[in-house]
Amino acid sequence: MSGITDEIKTRCNIVDVVGRYVQLKRTGTGYMGLCPFHGEKTPSFHVSDSRQFYHCFGCGESGDVISFVMKMDNVDFMTAVRKLCEQYGIDMEAFGFGRESGKNEIYEMNREAARFFFHAIADRPNPGREYLQDRGLDKTAIAKFGLGYADGRWHSLLDHMKAKGYSEKQLMNAGLISQSKGRYYDKFRDRVIFPIINTRGKVIAFGGRAIAGQDPKYLNSPESAAFSKKDNLFGLNLSRDAVKNADQIIIVEGYMDMISLYMAGITNVAATLGTAMTPNHCVMIRRYTTNVVLSYDSDEAGRKAALRGIEVLKDAGLNASVLHVTDGKDPDEFIRSNGPEAFRELVSRAQNYADYRLESEKRKYDLNETDGAVRYIRAAAEILNDISPALADTYVSKLAGEAGISQGAVRKEIEAVSRMRQAGAGGRTRSAERTATEEPSGAGLNLQRTFLALAVQNPQYIKPISEYESVFTDRNCFRLFSAIRSIFEEDPGTDINKVFDSMDAADAELLARIRETILIQDDPEKLFNDCVTRIRINELQKRHRELEYCLDVIPEGSGDRVRELMDELKHIDGELHSMKQKFRSDY
Ligand code: GTP
Ligand code: MN
Repeated sequence: MSGITDEIKTRCNIVDVVGRYVQLKRTGTGYMGLCPFHGEKTPSFHVSDSRQFYHCFGCGESGDVISFVMKMDNVDFMTAVRKLCEQYGIDMEAFGFGRESGKNEIYEMNREAARFFFHAIADRPNPGREYLQDRGLDKTAIAKFGLGYADGRWHSLLDHMKAKGYSEKQLMNAGLISQSKGRYYDKFRDRVIFPIINTRGKVIAFGGRAIAGQDPKYLNSPESAAFSKKDNLFGLNLSRDAVKNADQIIIVEGYMDMISLYMAGITNVAATLGTAMTPNHCVMIRRYTTNVVLSYDSDEAGRKAALRGIEVLKDAGLNASVLHVTDGKDPDEFIRSNGPEAFRELVSRAQNYADYRLESEKRKYDLNETDGAVRYIRAAAEILNDISPALADTYVSKLAGEAGISQGAVRKEIEAVSRMRQAGAGGRTRSAERTATEEPSGAGLNLQRTFLALAVQNPQYIKPISEYESVFTDRNCFRLFSAIRSIFEEDPGTDINKVFDSMDAADAELLARIRETILIQDDPEKLFNDCVTRIRINELQKRHRELEYCLDVIPEGSGDRVRELMDELKHIDGELHSMKQKFRSDY
């Protein structure tokens, strides 16, 4: 599914398309007409032939040919795409769209390939079987999951599939082979193969684990008409009855985690496919249970993923809890050394939403310091405003005890956050209450949008921006950024249209709008640096407010501590002053 947007932009001249709705006159730089999006008597609607872009100098509307049709006809991205393709005779099927038979064809090819890989691992000794044996998986596990082996040669699968009557074009379409300089070769080589099977029993894709330390460690089939990572969980085809019976699902990060738990008798388990939990996953889970235990790696990445995951689950109305294995880096390692009973024990002690978020927050502060305690209580107040007031109240005495602050003060903080949110003063909008197409608004958003525009227009900035990923406080922006990043991580040389094609229509539209409203001028480096400066200023300002607050609440007779706080305040004042001198902009 690639390149359809490109094709449309090449074939559907925007002047032509707009010209059906608006009378256009040629001017020096393009065409002008009366803006169809707001009432006007003198033309301020500009259409650029060379840039295939429109912009209204009156109301600020702008975009490309697809967003024009979306706006004009009030339709979503895919509808606009379909419409333009019909009008201009573009064959959508050639781009992998809207062909049920295409999907079925991929399923059939995948099934045949899965059979081939399985025979390769099962019928005779081979490195794949040895590798799995070393990792504790025997023939039973191999048969249960239909695991396979792709050998190190370049044409094993290709030859087999051609003999079965499939063409290179079809195999490319299924992502089973790759092409370089006109030559075709197997995509999976020297790997253990994990077939990804959906709950209807179709082989929708493969994951391949490197046996000899190649890069990447795991290789997945590309997204296609048949496969979308964010819509599928590995292993659910086998585990769904157990999930229903247990009324609980354990979500792990890796193929191996899923298989190890399952083979050890903990069968109510499934794995995300190298991606964060998505709303689509939640919809799927809800068919079987509303209780979800995230069981992620104990490293920093695992903690981050869990924090994001519980938000997504909570927004979907699911009961989320989290556990991190205590021994070994992931559930697979844990269960190997400690056995299923120890793992069940961890599951029974998994932390609920509020407990988990509070504990993650608490790690960041030194509660023995006044300002540490104050900052923790403030962060905790934010968290408690995300849960029901009755439940929040049960945390008050615990928090007060931890921070050495009165219960009254804790309650006041919680109320202050609640008031802020009601007033909408910089308070976060709950993502469940907004739709994806809604444009983000509010403080810090220009920064987030500028980063997004930079990432889309200059992918080399994706890595540097990742260093500042905490600025993506708006969930829509964060989701868009994650999507861009994951696609470029998988294939750094990819085409930007891939990003759009991989998103649902609403996200693609939102991103297109951001890309088109924020034009990166000739100096992206300066723009990036300005953003970084702005982030630093925001941090300093935040710390400034905290220090002032600490000075307000610090008990009498803490002379030394007061002096320390004052020193820091002065230092920050100085730094802020010099930064603002250097940098005057209004993000
Ligand atoms: P093992 O080393 O085989 O035990 O894998 P793991 O599951 O412990 O690995 P890790 O925690 O690094 O990764 C968890 C999951 O992320 C994997 O099961 C894959 O789905 C995915 N993943 C890991 N590495 C890669 C990669 O290089 N590329 C892609 N596309 N996915 C990956
Ligand atoms: Mn592992």
